[in-house]
Amino acid sequence: NEVPVLTIDGPSGSGKGTISRAVAARLGWHYLDSGALYRAVGVAAGWGDLDLDDAGALVRCAFDTEVGFRDDAGGEPRVLVNGNDATDELRTETAGAAASAIAAIPAVRAALKDRQRAFRQPPGLVADGRDMGTVIFPDAPFKVFLTASAEERAERRYKQLKDKGVSVTLAGLLREILARDARDASRAVAPLRPAEDAVRIDTTGIGIDEVVGRVLKVAGA
Ligand code: C5P
Repeated sequence: NEVPVLTIDGPSGSGKGTISRAVAARLGWHYLDSGALYRAVGVAAGWGDLDLDDAGALVRCAFDTEVGFRDDAGGEPRVLVNGNDATDELRTETAGAAASAIAAIPAVRAALKDRQRAFRQPPGLVADGRDMGTVIFPDAPFKVFLTASAEERAERRYKQLKDKGVSVTLAGLLREILARDARDASRAVAPLRPAEDAVRIDTTGIGIDEVVGRVLKVAGA
């Protein structure tokens, strides 16, 4: 496939979403928020009252759930799940935890593979996730792995949620982040790890513009 891909992987709260969208806008490339697909399936499973231990039902749910992205001038794209705007629900920690649970099921990951690869369209794609550089686009010419300390990631999430009027505690968020990291890194299938050819960028204490600049450099821009 000749269409260039820039993969941006890393743990939750590493700034992947913000950085990836900014970089995609600068390059004029498409953007894949793969986490939103897992979150959408997790949320749809909740709507359907599915048992999170019923792998068969969850795989069917992964195939059946329609996920659409709609640009929202200036803001984060809206995410439609089976035609309903689920953007706010997808951002909750409950949706994140459900996503992380269903993402550990190999058949669910396999069900979402082609859908993710279909985002690879000219002139290019910025793909944000956990396994973009290792599993989904191993042949991507440009790969980045973003990290930040767990404390800084918890603080970022805290500010984000605070701004949205969600009431949470910093200690609670840090606990959730560490638990999700551990689950994402230790699962048997597609564990969170940098691709061998990924450029690692630690964003602790670094501003967004600086990180965007470094990532653009990796993509040769
Ligand atoms: O990136 P985000 O926080 O939206 O991802 C939610 C969850 O979905 C992650 O904790 C992870 O378990 C799962 N995920 C994944 N592979 C991806 C993207 C997300 O397993 N490529």
